[in-house]
Amino acid sequence: MILGHFSSCPDMKYQTKAGAPEKQRTACLVLAVFERRKLSVPAQAADAACDGALAQILARGDIDGKSGQTLLLQAIEGIAADRVLLVGCGKQKSFDARQYLKAQATAAAALGALGAKDCLNTLTLLEISGRDKAWAVQHAVLAMDAQFYRFDELKSEKAPARTLKTVQLAISNKSKALEQALSLGVATAAGVALSMDLGNRPGNLCTPTDLAEQGLKLANQYKTIDCRVLEEKEMEKLGMGALLSVSRGSREPAKLIVMEYKGGDASATPIALVGKGLTFDAGGISIKPSARMEEMKFDMCGGATVFGVFQALAESDLPLHVVGVVPSSENLPDGAANKPGDVVTSMAGLTIEVINTDAEGRLILCDALTYTQREYKPRVLIDMATLTGACVVALGEHATGLFANNQELAQNLLDAGEQSCDRAWQMPLWEDYQAQIKSTVADIANVGGPGAGAITAACFLHRFTKQANWAHLDIAGTAWTSKKYSTGRPVPLLMQYLAQQAK
Ligand code: BES
Ligand code: MN
Ligand code: ZN
Repeated sequence: MILGHFSSCPDMKYQTKAGAPEKQRTACLVLAVFERRKLSVPAQAADAACDGALAQILARGDIDGKSGQTLLLQAIEGIAADRVLLVGCGKQKSFDARQYLKAQATAAAALGALGAKDCLNTLTLLEISGRDKAWAVQHAVLAMDAQFYRFDELKSEKAPARTLKTVQLAISNKSKALEQALSLGVATAAGVALSMDLGNRPGNLCTPTDLAEQGLKLANQYKTIDCRVLEEKEMEKLGMGALLSVSRGSREPAKLIVMEYKGGDASATPIALVGKGLTFDAGGISIKPSARMEEMKFDMCGGATVFGVFQALAESDLPLHVVGVVPSSENLPDGAANKPGDVVTSMAGLTIEVINTDAEGRLILCDALTYTQREYKPRVLIDMATLTGACVVALGEHATGLFANNQELAQNLLDAGEQSCDRAWQMPLWEDYQAQIKSTVADIANVGGPGAGAITAACFLHRFTKQANWAHLDIAGTAWTSKKYSTGRPVPLLMQYLAQQAK
């Protein structure tokens, strides 16, 4: 069942706006205040226009400037805006990218609750350590849009419609670079929203068939995207014994969704993205405990990332050739399901002993990775997967686990994560760990003992990616939050990386 796409996409309009902010007619002027009661430069200009009324209000002590604070003022004489929203930005001395994103999110949360239909946001004029104005514009869109996002398609009572329709981002002068940053931000935000929608949908409404329809829908919607779906019969012919073993325990047939984005020279060797699309992971015969099992609807967030990135690519028209592959299935217990100890044969020919049926992600990924390498010979191969609970233990919810067999690729992804504040942290892929996934009867076992679970999972995948410049992103800790909402990560990281590659 497909519930209508981008149903939760905030649909906000973002524009840049040059000129003195205090003179602009707008329903709400957003101004930054630093600790302690320090007006930002744009706020000082506004203060001068209203004969010091802002400074006076600050002196009364209602807002200190701490991060997260806001104060709404009405009808300040001398300022053209109907309202002024003061936003606390923390210490000016340490004002960095993270503080900036927090301030933008705070502003958006306050704005979204107002009756204002538009606003002029001057936070984009602030000096941010280590970042330029193009970054400020691009990430204002991402930080604000994430606040405007709602997932209420399954509630009978919908969230009330937001009055705010247009966000103007203040800039000093119009430039091509700033307009490009704006459109990259808008495109990426749309991709994040799509990824979040898919992630938030429950397993019964987001099956492998639904994900396949999503791919076809994107191909319908954008001239630059092609999509074809491989059915189980074709996968059998290709020898994908590992992938197909996982869906045997489910009534939902597996799908291999293959998309191509041709925004540039289509004959150029592509960058390939492969995302784990496990629409529900009960563990199979090695069944999971029931506590928090419902969160395993998010086990397709690697796949959701591929769809999100594809939408963002098409919206931004980046001149690139990108392949996206999403192996999709359910992992349920059943009489036909994988049993512990079963041996399956992968498309690459390696035999795999399924010690634990809950280590299914690597089973569907290894065949998808082999297929992608054989079919496309990509110059770079990146997979994203909610692969291991061990990665959550290691890194928590702040960093995605990064593994790579090519250090230049690893560094590029780390930099993209740092730049987009959607961070990854590298972990080792040393040969030493390979000993843990030895099998007595097969070429390789699908689990590697209690220690280093995220690493042995990556080492397993590495056995299938020796021919490529390959990186693996374990997003088990970052793809959704403890509040059980999808984050849309790592769409921002990947879009940052891809935009860099397009230069
Ligand atoms: N999808 C899970 C990984 C996961 C678990 C992500 C919890 C986020 C939170 C994966 O398929 C899985 O079950 N992995 C096992 C591997 C183990 C059997 C070696 C795990 O992490 O427990
Ligand atoms: Mn599992
Ligand atoms: Zn899983």
